[in-house]
Amino acid sequence: MDNLGITSLSSTYKLLNGVGIPCIGFGTWQTPDGNVAYESVLAALKCGYRHIDTATAYGNEESVGRAINDFLKTGEVKRSELFITTKLHNRDHGYEATEKAIENSLSLLGLDYLDLYLIHWPNPIFFRENWAEANAGSWKAMEEAYAKGKIRAIGLSNFFERHIDRLMETAEVPPMVNQIKICPGIAQTDLVEFCKARKMAVEGYSPLGTGGTFRSEVLKKIAQKYGKTVAQVCVRWSLQQGAIPLPKSVNAERIAQNSQVFDFSLDIEDCQAIAEINYAELGISPQRNPDENTF
Ligand code: A2P
Repeated sequence: MDNLGITSLSSTYKLLNGVGIPCIGFGTWQTPDGNVAYESVLAALKCGYRHIDTATAYGNEESVGRAINDFLKTGEVKRSELFITTKLHNRDHGYEATEKAIENSLSLLGLDYLDLYLIHWPNPIFFRENWAEANAGSWKAMEEAYAKGKIRAIGLSNFFERHIDRLMETAEVPPMVNQIKICPGIAQTDLVEFCKARKMAVEGYSPLGTGGTFRSEVLKKIAQKYGKTVAQVCVRWSLQQGAIPLPKSVNAERIAQNSQVFDFSLDIEDCQAIAEINYAELGISPQRNPDENTF
């Protein structure tokens, strides 16, 4: 059935440095800190997600970490079976700030090491005049934390081709991941190919179009054809695009539903139709241009 070589939430792909990354991550963007983040991450771990994606900017690292640590206490899995990602805040670019930010995230999450640390945005408003130097400084701090074993893999998020090329001019350790928006109508195939040519894994955030996909008649029809839900079709499509989807939900049933995507495969015509969906019509916002961000 599966031609991607993945059969469950714990199936992994290999990053450039050999570290295994579980093929679907649990997204926590827009998940409020406190009980909601705690309960949803715990529900995700209980139903088999092994890859959790957060960020300092999401403001929920403390609750996410508490759920991870409480789940570890049950003895159901070892820390080495989990894959935990967080991201550098836009205010914290540059060598020294990044060094501190990594320590701060480790402390908030209550972890000894991170599996993946990403620069969240390449060109924050605070560093617009010297963004490339700021990224180079951040990257150096990340390389050092990587060398010390505080981070098992390092990467980027929302980086376009020009930002990646610029970073690679000074990087000693190449980036292993780029996390970008990938959802129906937003396939970003050129950027995905660019990353793959550089042996970077591509993670896709907002695989459900932050909820907009549920308004799509195209997706409803395709879901009916396969006897699956629209959410499952979206997650499956992202996988078949070669991405690692990061579906977000705060509801235990939907969290489980979004992971049941290993028993069907979308035909090529359906994949094409999904790629061509008019996302704007569904109220889904495009991948932001990092050079025009106001944050
Ligand atoms: P909720 O968190 O209440 O489940 P994305 O992953 O693209 O960011 O989309 C997240 C949005 O989609 C959230 O509003 C989430 O709401 C909703 N969502 C997640 N999974 C499902 C699902 N299986 N069915 C319907 N809505 C879902």
